[in-house]
Amino acid sequence: MSYLTGKPFRYSIACYNLAKLPNQPDILRMVAAMFNDLPRPIIFAHRGASAHAPENTLAAFELALRQGADAVELDAKLTADGQIVVIHDQTVDRTTDGSGRVKDLTLAELRKLDAGSHFDIAFRGEPIPTLEEVLKAIGQLTFVNIELTNYASILDQLPEKTAVLVKRLKLSRRVMFSSFNPISLRRAHHLLPEVPIGFLATPGFSGSFVRSWLGRLIVPYLTLNPEHRDVTPKIITQLHKLDRGVLTYTVNDNDEIDRLFQLGVDGIFTDDPPLALRIRNLAKRNRSPNAPVKS
Ligand code: G3P
Ligand code: MG
Repeated sequence: MSYLTGKPFRYSIACYNLAKLPNQPDILRMVAAMFNDLPRPIIFAHRGASAHAPENTLAAFELALRQGADAVELDAKLTADGQIVVIHDQTVDRTTDGSGRVKDLTLAELRKLDAGSHFDIAFRGEPIPTLEEVLKAIGQLTFVNIELTNYASILDQLPEKTAVLVKRLKLSRRVMFSSFNPISLRRAHHLLPEVPIGFLATPGFSGSFVRSWLGRLIVPYLTLNPEHRDVTPKIITQLHKLDRGVLTYTVNDNDEIDRLFQLGVDGIFTDDPPLALRIRNLAKRNRSPNAPVKS
């Protein structure tokens, strides 16, 4: 389904933003141009190409681009001294040679850590990047889903600082904000209404509130981002009728990716972009059997 490239979708983006931004047609055109022009289903490299390189490092993001991922997902949070860094967990214990909570460590302390060796010794010395470093390195080359992961400090300044950075780097056409934290999404949306919002739903019963119509009341989202096992034909149909999309996380299994693509999801988050690209190419080839085969 070409739903996210069609006129109804462009119209819905306009409505979605006009509520906040009257008389700014240029911004509306910019949003439509960027997000809509990504291939469907969109293949987001989850924490970069994290099946092939250490997650949330520049090495993983650059590899994702070389592998042909359409877009990149990353996890942003604040250090003790208010800098935005890219790391998934609330602590550095799993992915570095250090220990402690990210929010208790300064950027200088975090920069001394090795965020590569836990994955493979070949990546020894790979640092935890700042969001600014990542956006400067790849922001003009791809589309970036910035997950606002201030889950251990839900009222901190992450949304404001992220919005200011995106604006300063002139990347508001090339990013979207996502989060399980509705407060962060509302605050980011208030500052940069032209940036699409993806509302993440936790798996199973705990995410049912977000997946229901109540979720749409809380956050003016453009995409609902449920866990892949919660994606059903009904949820896709409902959201497409409302001119919203479904981006689902985190799917690395061949058959499951195939199922989701056949259901008509608008995008997936995967650690393994080459796998997802092969499945998407195969599906396209099967739809048009005479098309030339691309490697
Ligand atoms: O945005 C999709 C996914 O990243 C959400 O879960 O825990 O991997 O950040 P998590
Ligand atoms: Mg994430």
